[in-house]
Amino acid sequence: MRRILVAGNWKLNGNSHSVVRLASAVVQGARELTEVDIAVCPPYVYLPAVQAQLAGSRVALGAQDASVQDRGAFTGEVSAPMLKDCGCRCVIVGHSERRSLFGEQDQDTAYKFAAVRRQGLMPLLCVGETLDEREQGVTEAVVARQLDAVLALEGAGALTDAVIAYEPVWAIGTGRTATPQQAQDVHAFIRSRIARQDAGVAAKTRILYGGSVKSANAAELFAMADIDGGLIGGAALDAQEFLAICQAGHLQGQQG
Ligand code: PGA
Repeated sequence: MRRILVAGNWKLNGNSHSVVRLASAVVQGARELTEVDIAVCPPYVYLPAVQAQLAGSRVALGAQDASVQDRGAFTGEVSAPMLKDCGCRCVIVGHSERRSLFGEQDQDTAYKFAAVRRQGLMPLLCVGETLDEREQGVTEAVVARQLDAVLALEGAGALTDAVIAYEPVWAIGTGRTATPQQAQDVHAFIRSRIARQDAGVAAKTRILYGGSVKSANAAELFAMADIDGGLIGGAALDAQEFLAICQAGHLQGQQG
């Protein structure tokens, strides 16, 4: 039976008061939502404050990125061992904003994926094409290249305790969601790509969709055969909206 995961990516938003309010509201609302896994990924500096709210709850703490380095003279970096120490259970790697705005290459993402796994944390690997790439018909080639960088370094077995998020760049923060069928097609492609190496792992790997998910479209996305949850940006900043998306995951989970 598949279990839906809904993860909130708070990006560069909030302050010490608002993150605590948001985390506390999510914890309250999540109590009843037993059939869905939930995580929130605040900015680094708020991890301890948010973790204090999440302690003992069903909501897991995650981070938005991690250094490829574990320690040393790397000013400004935050390492996976530090994230683990702060109570994180998962870490987003290869978000399209890291790739497009900060020059992160496929290989860097693969090293981050490995660094996160070394600590026993769950990497949440983002892949996805730009609008240009979709229009050129190279969506599958782009997603395959991004995925293969990780498969080559870590092997398909590494995906057993990882999650993939398909996030078409043209749908992130634009209000333009991929249709459930568009998303399903790429999710099925990702699963088949993993299956080429290990069919057992492919069947179990959770593949989330991200890109303008909101309460109004979550249920139809989560109902698709290969969509196992969502990575939520903008809508994760509003507790009620985020919880409504989690509720859609919970209802889907109840159906099995
Ligand atoms: P969005 O962001 O939900 O605001 O489109 C998703 C993401 O970037 O993970």
